[in-house]
Amino acid sequence: MKALLLALLLLAATARAGGETVKFGDVLNQKFHHPRCLNCHQFNSARHQGRAFNSHSARYLCDRCHSANLTGLRHGEWMAPPEEMDWTDLDARATCMLIKRNLDGDDQAANLLAHLLGDVRVRWALDNGMTPGGRFPHVPGGYAEFSRQAREWVGDGMACE
Ligand code: HEC
Ligand code: HEC
Repeated sequence: MKALLLALLLLAATARAGGETVKFGDVLNQKFHHPRCLNCHQFNSARHQGRAFNSHSARYLCDRCHSANLTGLRHGEWMAPPEEMDWTDLDARATCMLIKRNLDGDDQAANLLAHLLGDVRVRWALDNGMTPGGRFPHVPGGYAEFSRQAREWVGDGMACE
């Protein structure tokens, strides 16, 4: 009888764990806050001493140094987002809300997934990390792990918390 109860309890626990919604903070938030993503997203932020206010006196013509043969990106693709897209000091929930707020279009889930899986800069951060100053460590787990986790999160409803 005891064993049966225990088995039932275990079953219930597994069912609950399996049915839990995937949240942004589970695994993705940590990756968004990896320096390969952050250093570009905070580029134009004075508050966080982004590169534009720090190591980079030349803020234009990024490709002159971040050339295609270094980054693997095409001409014009290496650029930094506006300051509003700097999530440096935001927690998981706020980071999640920010990237969702910036989304437009009818099919937000498809748009966000297309960006996360298809954007060349995201891909660079996940698998490459090459700069004119040498190669910086890419996001651990690379594209393979990130794309699986992004699919799970978006497929489960893009929950922020
Ligand atoms: C080389 C600079 C650079 C790197 C590195 C970079 N991004 Fe971005 N990111 C951008 C730019 C530029 C935009 C704005 C693109 C646009 O407006 O089309 C952007 C936009 C985004 C958006 C918003 C999409 C939207 O429509 O609001 C998300 C989400 C995002 N990046 C995630 C990431 C993640 C995650 C990483 C790291 C794995 C990363 N980015 C690395 C430059 C970068
Ligand atoms: C004069 C050459 C030069 C120009 C022009 C240049 N960069 Fe850089 N960039 C570098 C060097 C060298 C590094 C490595 C040293 C460092 O991290 O500051 C670097 C590093 C970076 C990093 C840090 C990457 C990381 O993941 O840590 C970002 C982001 C960046 N540059 C963005 C830009 C953007 C955006 C532009 C154009 C608005 C630009 N750079 C223009 C030379 C340049």
